[in-house]
Amino acid sequence: MNLHDGYRKLVSVQGQQMLLCQEEGSLRLFSRHCPHEGQVLDKATVVQDVLTCPRHHIQFSLSDGKPLRSLCGSLRVYNLVYEGNSVGVDE
Ligand code: FES
Repeated sequence: MNLHDGYRKLVSVQGQQMLLCQEEGSLRLFSRHCPHEGQVLDKATVVQDVLTCPRHHIQFSLSDGKPLRSLCGSLRVYNLVYEGNSVGVDE
């Protein structure tokens, strides 16, 4: 993997489409689809710990997936674990 800020890759975890994303030096793994109305999040904005959906601009914490200032469901977020040069999912 050639990781850099702006890196995004579609991956499958347990049959679900997820996005592996690096911004500001932090690698994150979260659901490809917004829990609000299913918008694909490939072009979502990620600043610090907050993802903003491009459709209705609801923001989600990437620590726990919870929406900020909204009552919609949480974004599925996975914890990443590192072993040598490998990255895996902590279930
Ligand atoms: S579909 Fe993402 S905020 Fe509405």
